[in-house]
This record gives sequence, structure tokens and C-alpha cells, in this order.
Amino acid sequence: MGEFYVTTPIYYVNDVPHIGHAYTTIAADVLARYHRLRGDSVFFLTGTDEHGAKIAEAAREHGKGPKVYADEMVAQFKAAWKHLDISNDYFVRTTDPRHERAVQKFIAVLHERGDIYRARYEGLYCVGCERFVTEDDLVEGKCPLHLREPVLYAEDNYFFRLSKYQDMLARAITDPADPNHFEVSPPARRNEVLGKLRVGLSDISISRATLTWGIPLPFDPSQTTYVWVDALLNYITAIGYEDDPASLARWWPADLQLMAKDILWFHAIIWPAMLLSAGLRPPRHVFAHGFFTIEGQKISKTLGNIIRPHQLIERYGVDATRYLMLGEFPFGVDGDISLSSFTARYNADLANDLGNLLNRVVSMINRYFGGRVPAPDSDHVGELDRDLQTVAERALVSFDASLEAVAFGEGLSAIWQLLSRANKYVEECAPWALAKSDRARLAVVLYNLAESLRLVAEALWPVMPEATARVARALGISLDLTGDWARITKWGGLPIGAQVEANPTPLFPRIL
Ligand code: MSP
Repeated sequence: MGEFYVTTPIYYVNDVPHIGHAYTTIAADVLARYHRLRGDSVFFLTGTDEHGAKIAEAAREHGKGPKVYADEMVAQFKAAWKHLDISNDYFVRTTDPRHERAVQKFIAVLHERGDIYRARYEGLYCVGCERFVTEDDLVEGKCPLHLREPVLYAEDNYFFRLSKYQDMLARAITDPADPNHFEVSPPARRNEVLGKLRVGLSDISISRATLTWGIPLPFDPSQTTYVWVDALLNYITAIGYEDDPASLARWWPADLQLMAKDILWFHAIIWPAMLLSAGLRPPRHVFAHGFFTIEGQKISKTLGNIIRPHQLIERYGVDATRYLMLGEFPFGVDGDISLSSFTARYNADLANDLGNLLNRVVSMINRYFGGRVPAPDSDHVGELDRDLQTVAERALVSFDASLEAVAFGEGLSAIWQLLSRANKYVEECAPWALAKSDRARLAVVLYNLAESLRLVAEALWPVMPEATARVARALGISLDLTGDWARITKWGGLPIGAQVEANPTPLFPRIL
């Protein structure tokens, strides 16, 4: 049994959560639950990014002080994650005094190492991105992401010697034997990062002279820590960088840091360099998933096409929302989502392949065996049954391999291959005919179907915690969450004589 520390980005509180934020958070939750299911100890971190010009500006627009405003928004993030069954172990806020103290301690270490110096900065800054931009980044003078003009900054700042870490970072990414080795995925993104490293790194400004909403630099309180430096540190402040060395040693380096490609630069370059400067290891794996559009359009306030998690939940329920989001397009690439394709997949995969199969199997056990899971007699097991068992065993192996590779879509389709084999098995074996001619075969067939459903429910628990518990209940058992994965997934684990539900309500009622 291992340990697994997984993080999401900490989200800006200038807006309430939308399905872009939900996407990464659901993905991290599925991995956290996947590891817990297999008996690992897990620390799953999410939280909010509350300092900087962007939040100060949003608070002003709402006529509120930044902390009051952030408190209100944080409540909305927490409520959204609760609603989506997100099982984070901790919620970090950059306004937590614990975080603020730890950030100051960290920056003091970088300063002592000689990696921070004072210099004049002049350049363009996009408040939407909270980053410096160059003329080359702009389209018609505006940031293409935020459609706003950058502001000109000219002030004395403190700089971090990022350039010093260029070669170390390249080695750490490319050489698995390097003591600081870390993975950047998927490969296309890794190549982009390596390409930028080859071009060369410039030192970065890490403080602001004119902004007060943030954490003062420990060695010059007239300057405020750059919001990205403040934010990235959440990944270690939350596990005790300042106050709990045992916890820090236990969880750091993180096993997996998830984000979209928009902020990979910060996570694959700046963050590891900061850690190296402080004598800490980079995270083990930085994974940047794709960006998705909604019906072909970028998610944007101006376009008014923002979908909030609760809108999907109202339509599909919590579990289906989690399933639909992760299965819509491969995790590592850009994609598009649309309500019409969500509804079609809900009906096909969830209402039909899974919900309908469960309903048929439970009804037949009720009808033919008085509601008790029948005992399969090995003398009556044939080719078809062995094939179903093999398909089930392979599906579980392939599901595991896919989740280890952070490939949710592939993992789900492995389980759906088992479901479609099971549905075909019903037609091939025609239990309604066996009921008249061969009760021994009927017992084998219904046992195998119920057993397949048990395995599907166990494997899918990380994705659909509530619905899979209902599948188990319908089969007269509880999900086994003890962590003994080899035993749990051994074919034949469904107890004979389990009392199935007399009248289970449809798992996923069809949506028109
Ligand atoms: N506060 C910074 C992150 C600091 S982490 C130390 C930030 N916040 S954010 O609110 O803008 O969140 C960006 C993240 O939200 C993306 O990296 C991704 O995880 C998620 N997404 C937001 N919109 C998304 C899509 N349209 N598609 C996929 N992911 C999306 O950046």
C-alpha cells in the first residue's frame, strides 16, 4: 500500500466555480478515490487563490473589501465541491494566516540562498492572467485570453534567479536517474516545456511595489509577493511547510499535480525552480489536461455560455455529471462538450448499458430465484461464461492501467466493454428460455451477470460514488471499500444467497 498526494490548481475567486474548474476537481477526486479504493493513504488538496490585482479589482467592482468578497466566493466553491461529492482532505486558502506565514518563511529561504535580487522592472502586465506579457503575446494590442489591454508596469521589484535553474530543470525533466527527476505530461506538453527551456529562461519579478492585497515580502514589507509565487506555495503550505515537518516529509513531493495547459508554465518551470532553490524536490508528476469549449465556443462571461456545475447536476444528477465530464474527450487533449452529446451518452451508457442491465438482472433473480443470488454449479459452466469472466478480468486490468496513466476515457471504455459483453451475454444465454428448460444453467448465468455488475460497481466507485453504492444495494451487498483490492476484484466474490432488492428504483432514468 502506498501514499498518494494529488492536487488541483487553487482557483481564482473572481468568479463562482464553472465547469472548467469542476473538470479538474472531478478528475483529481476520481484519482484520490481510486487510490483509496486500492488501499493507499491519500492526501487530496484543492483550494482558492485570493490575492493579487485581479481579485482586488473584482472585489472593488462588487463594492466589497477583498477579504469579505473572497470569503463569500470561497463559500460558493466549497458548496459546489460538496455538491459534486468532492472528497478533498484539505481546502487551502491563500488568505489563511498559516499559508501567509509559510510563504514568508519560504521567501526568506530563497533570499538567504542569494536567489532574490532587486532591480527595475518595466513591462506589460495582463491582470487577467496575472503575468507579464510581451508584444508577441498580444493580438491587436490585447491579451487574447482576456480580451483586455495589458497595463504598463515600471517599478523597482525583487527578482528570482529563474535563469540559474534552466539546466537543472532540463536535466530533471529528461533524465529519470536525476535525483530531482519529474514527469511532465502529456508528451506534447512536455515537448513544449523543453522547447521553452532550450530558448532560455529569464529571471522573473516576484514582487509588486504598488499592490497591497497580498503577502508582504519578509525582508522588505513595502513590497507584496507576486500572486503566482504566493499561490504555487499552497501545495506545500497546506501540508505543513511551516509548522508540520513530519507531514511535509510524508507527502512531499506530490505524486500528481493536475491543471490545464493554460498554467503549465508556472507548474513545470517556475514552481520546480522555486523548490530547487529552497532545497526541496520538484513534484513527481505535473499533468496538464486540455482546454474544452462549449458547443465550439470558448467559455466566457461575455458570450454568456458559462455552465455552472449545479446546472449539470440538476439535469443529470451528481454521478452522471462526473461520468459525463470525464468521458467526453480524452483527458490530455482539447475538446468540446455539449448538452446534446451529454444527454445522448447519459441515455446510452448510463440509462441503458448500466441501468437497464442492473434492472434486468435484479428482476430475473427476483422472478426465478425468490430474490436470492443463486449458486452457480461449476459442472454447468461453459465457454460463454468463461469468456464473460475473462472479459471482466481484463477490463479491470485495463481500467487500472488507464487510471495509472491518467487516461479516464480509456479506463471508462474498458469498463463499458465489460458492460456491453454482459448485455450481449444476456441475449446469447436467453435466461427467460433457460427458466423453462435448464435451471442449473440459469443459476450460472444470473450469478455471472450479478457478479459482473458487482465488479463494475467496485471499479466505478471513484467516478460515481453514490450510484455504484446503489448498484451494490440492489444486488443485496455493500461496496467493499476496505482497500484489499486483489481480494475485492477476484471473480466469485458476490456472496451466494444475497437478497437483491425487491423493487429497485431505476438507477439512471432516461432523459428525453
Ligand atoms: N489561480 C490560478 C491557479 C493557481 S495554482 C497555484 C488559476 N486559477 S483559475 O481559476 O483561472 O483556474 C484555471 C484552471 O481551471 C485551469 O488550469 C483548469 O484546471 C481549470 N479550467 C478552467 N477553464 C477550463 C476549461 N475551459 N477547460 C479545462 N479546464 C479549465 O489559474
